[in-house]
Amino acid sequence: MKAIRLHEFGSPDALRLEEVPLPLVGSSDVLIRVVAASVNPIDCKIRSGAMKGALRRPLPVVVGWDAAGVIEGMGPSVTRFRRGDAVYCYPEFARGGTYAEFVAVEESQVALKPRTVPFASAAALPMTGQAAWTAVIKTGGLTAGQTVLIHGAAGSLGAIAVQLAHDLGARVIATASSESRDLIQSLGADEILDYTKPDYLDGVRDVDLVVDTIGGATQEASWSVLRPGALLVATAMPPPPGRAEAAGVRAAFIFTEPSGATLEQIALLVDAGRLRPMVALEMALAEAARAHTLLEARQVKGKIVLHVGAP
Ligand SMILES: NC(=O)c1ccc[n+]([C@@H]2O[C@H](COP(=O)([O-])OP(=O)(O)OC[C@H]3O[C@@H](n4cnc5c(N)ncnc54)[C@H](OP(=O)(O)O)[C@@H]3O)[C@@H](O)[C@H]2O)c1
Repeated sequence: MKAIRLHEFGSPDALRLEEVPLPLVGSSDVLIRVVAASVNPIDCKIRSGAMKGALRRPLPVVVGWDAAGVIEGMGPSVTRFRRGDAVYCYPEFARGGTYAEFVAVEESQVALKPRTVPFASAAALPMTGQAAWTAVIKTGGLTAGQTVLIHGAAGSLGAIAVQLAHDLGARVIATASSESRDLIQSLGADEILDYTKPDYLDGVRDVDLVVDTIGGATQEASWSVLRPGALLVATAMPPPPGRAEAAGVRAAFIFTEPSGATLEQIALLVDAGRLRPMVALEMALAEAARAHTLLEARQVKGKIVLHVGAP
């Protein structure tokens, strides 16, 4: 099969389109014929070597941790799927391999894809959708009537977090540049703050939850907006030890675990029209290196999806 493989850490040119063996299918794995795979910032961080620790296996590897496709085969213990099912998944980090014509994934990490959107849109959801779900719901524990501040609302993760929080009935304050304002408003944000302006957080206080997808100075500026004892959930950079306690609040850094059960919940929201997946650019699998270049140069706002095969 054709796949994008990484032989050594480095620039986007390190991604090579190659003919590789089909993945091995374990007893509880499904073999998915990939139709679309999306590109995440962590793909670039792994490719460059900045986050090679997350890989947990030696090179060469097939890159990619988001896919939508069709089930072609399965191991003998699989009970939840049949050949021909249209599915989507975020496979665990130790395996991955979605920039490829086929990927083998443990069935518990797979769900039927949302029926109402194309494969490219479904492929844009698994990793960032599950991260947003974890940040807002599982770890964040946000409830109706509470106030959440979501940093990076125009990003793939943040845009889903805004929609989940709005759907829960929370008051949503979102940070984004002025260019992204209309988009974020259409997703349900109640207040949008332009992070490029100095003191953009002035006047924000007594927030019940901060979802920080940025880190650094953004995270540091966020401790004072929380009400005492409230929580900051970080996805990009772990909070410095002791920093939350010093501010009289709590902090959590999440590393999203794959979960087919969460993907089922996300598919229900999409099919009910309550969650809109967003794709900024669609490209061919062979253009994976260019996709990484565009993402790293921030020349594309939102998700890049690679077309791998026919639906
Ligand atoms: N821990 C986990 O499990 C997990 C899972 C998924 C992702 N992540 C991480 O979470 C982060 C976000 O991922 P993503 O896929 O959403 O990234 P993304 O789509 O690349 O986010 C880009 C967006 O960030 C916004 N942005 C940049 N600087 C900002 C700032 N200072 N304040 C507010 N917004 C700012 C920009 O908004 P404008 O267009 O408005 O300028 C841009 O559209 C990444 O670091 C990723 O690796 C972690």
